[in-house]
Amino acid sequence: MSKLARAIFPGSFDPLTLGHVDIITRALEFCEQVIVGVLANPSKSPLFTADERVDLIEQHFRLYGERVVAESFSGLLVDFAKEQKTRVLLRGLRATSDFDYEAQMALMNRHLSSEIETFFLMTLEKHSYISSSLVKQVAPLGGSVEHLVPPVVAEALMDKYESVA
Ligand code: PNS
Repeated sequence: MSKLARAIFPGSFDPLTLGHVDIITRALEFCEQVIVGVLANPSKSPLFTADERVDLIEQHFRLYGERVVAESFSGLLVDFAKEQKTRVLLRGLRATSDFDYEAQMALMNRHLSSEIETFFLMTLEKHSYISSSLVKQVAPLGGSVEHLVPPVVAEALMDKYESVA
């Protein structure tokens, strides 16, 4: 099977979870390169800076070399896609409750740029309850994040919450 040259997996990644890792890893089966697009200016104030989020993604995917690249972006996602020379956006779906928001975004992106296509990947059932916001709720209260985020992120969460304690 010939692979897509490149696709963008956009998000806030505050922080990267095992759900994201699963989507990226499965996308690599049909894409030569996945650009993880980290939104630099989300309306909600992030726990990790954009540089920290990019760094954590790069650290986790270091062994994949250029096949997984993390880049922060601001402004419109469709403009970032043009800059990165791809027409393909990837998004993960965890449950039907994700669908309305995802469909709205996909249609808005198509309205903004008719050449952009959004491909949806269904997450593994075992990751379907994981979200960055729940991780941020559980971690400062001492809950285990071991099966929720990669080790490098678990360590960064510990450092973050220790430094604010
Ligand atoms: O992980 P998230 O927070 O669900 O990701 C949302 C993201 C970053 C994909 C979305 O907010 C986005 O694309 N923002 C960039 C601004 C934009 O292009 N908006 C129009 C499309 S909805």
